[in-house]
Amino acid sequence: MKLIKNVLNNVPAYVALQKVVGADRLRYRCIAELDIQQGNSVLDVGCGPAYYFQRLPGNVRYHGFDTDAGYIEWAREKWGSERATFHHGIFDEAAAAALPSFDAVLLLGLLHHLSDDDSRSLLRLCAKKLAPGGWVVSVDTCYEPGQGMVSRWMSNNDRGEYVREPAAFLELAGDIFGKINGDILSDVTRIPASYWSMRMNAPLNPGDPTVSTHAS
Ligand SMILES: C[S@@+](CC[C@H](N)C(=O)[O-])C[C@H]1O[C@@H](n2cnc3c(N)ncnc32)[C@H](O)[C@@H]1O
Repeated sequence: MKLIKNVLNNVPAYVALQKVVGADRLRYRCIAELDIQQGNSVLDVGCGPAYYFQRLPGNVRYHGFDTDAGYIEWAREKWGSERATFHHGIFDEAAAAALPSFDAVLLLGLLHHLSDDDSRSLLRLCAKKLAPGGWVVSVDTCYEPGQGMVSRWMSNNDRGEYVREPAAFLELAGDIFGKINGDILSDVTRIPASYWSMRMNAPLNPGDPTVSTHAS
């Protein structure tokens, strides 16, 4: 497993593995569900190499953030700087303050790498930066009661340290967004694996990242 985790630090190997496993289909599905339009602004936190960048409409204004220098360097070289800006680092208050609001926010494979506190801080910040009518989409490896042995092995051995059950993902977002649609996706990849995808909008307190309320 350590070997696979090391291989994933090599960008072409990471992208190839995503496509072999069929994890790319999850990303394409999430992007399609947001129905991103020409001219929209798109934020992608934990963008990695953003190998799905070409699935976005041609003239979106895109900002990608990732803490892995190798992924960001690869993405900059691959996708250039005209249509996209890739930032090496976390998307925090300071980074957010320098950017406009976003019509679409992608959190593709990120939340299961973040603690509950970090996930909530990020979701609040995304809510704060969401343009009216905008959506946040996430997809993550999850645990689910009905998953088979292979799927559970995949969940147990994911690189992310915070693989959760769907209810736990929902709880992270429940105080922050007024509308959340979620699905367990267990038949999208070629290797049996379980994922939880959420689409979130209607921020409950978009102007105040430190205060949250429950949806009624
Ligand atoms: C599973 S990869 C997903 C990459 C890409 N979104 C994809 O779907 O292929 C998770 C990414 O999140 C990045 N990451 C982890 N913690 C982060 C943080 N706090 N802020 C930004 N990126 C982070 C990792 O470096 C890694 O590239």
